[in-house]
Amino acid sequence: MGKTILDIQGLRKTYGQHEVLKGVDCTVQEGEVISIIGSSGSGKTTMLRCINMLEEFQGGKISLDGEEIGYHADGSTRRRKSEKEIARQRALTGMAFQQFNLFPHMTAAENVMLGLVKVKKMSKPEARAVAEKWLDRVGLAARANHYPGQLSGGQQQRVAIARAIAMAPRLMLFDEVTSALDPELVGEVLQVIKGLAADGMTMLLVTHEMRFAYEVSSRVIFMNQGVICEEGDPKDMFARPKTERLAEFLKTSSFN
Ligand SMILES: Nc1ncnc2c1ncn2[C@@H]1O[C@H](COP(=O)(O)OP(=O)(O)OP(=O)(O)O)[C@@H](O)[C@H]1O
Ligand SMILES: [Mg+2]
Repeated sequence: MGKTILDIQGLRKTYGQHEVLKGVDCTVQEGEVISIIGSSGSGKTTMLRCINMLEEFQGGKISLDGEEIGYHADGSTRRRKSEKEIARQRALTGMAFQQFNLFPHMTAAENVMLGLVKVKKMSKPEARAVAEKWLDRVGLAARANHYPGQLSGGQQQRVAIARAIAMAPRLMLFDEVTSALDPELVGEVLQVIKGLAADGMTMLLVTHEMRFAYEVSSRVIFMNQGVICEEGDPKDMFARPKTERLAEFLKTSSFN
């Protein structure tokens, strides 16, 4: 067994009266590639957002690389860490979303450089070199000086992935990064993610691409109504779902 990168215990999250995560337990070892699947509203995005501290949560504990994220115990209560500390911890994870959220007035390279200069305090030439390395890695060496508006959706998403990875996170979180793309552009983005997986990057990916989950993940997590309903090796799970809910989900999903 490798080193534990992520350890989630009893994660609970409510929006008002609505309990969206009802006690999620999950551990991720270094180098694992985990696909999170499940129907709309099951809590997949919320789970990623809690890991990245984009959401506060009401119960449970998340540790990244051995550090408790977001809160510290204070007697019997828990207190939110300082914003500065949370910002530092947030940098342990990189996140890519369905919407790429690139700055339109900055070139591809400048988008990747921004966090390196602002957060990692690199000099501009240093940041430029790192940005070019990662843009090359996602197949966009020739597009470094293009603006987002001059790039296809698939290219923009690859810039967004390069931007997250360039920060050298311990864990990458992907939330349906291909869902907003035209079908013919999905493959190039999945190819980039496959390459990162082959390099040993630890990743949690929410995806509706069942074929991709099947082929690339070391483990699949099936979420249902705010809990992990079933998890395991994709080959076993897809061939022999243990729960009726997963069987139903697979029937209605794109995998066949
Ligand atoms: N900001 C919010 N305020 C209130 N309720 C929210 C908020 N964000 C999400 N929810 C609710 O939390 C539940 C889980 O949402 P979440 O976005 O995590 O689902 P998901 O599994 O990612 O779904 P999808 O596959 O559609 O992306 C849903 O019932 C949703 O309506
Ligand atoms: Mg979602």
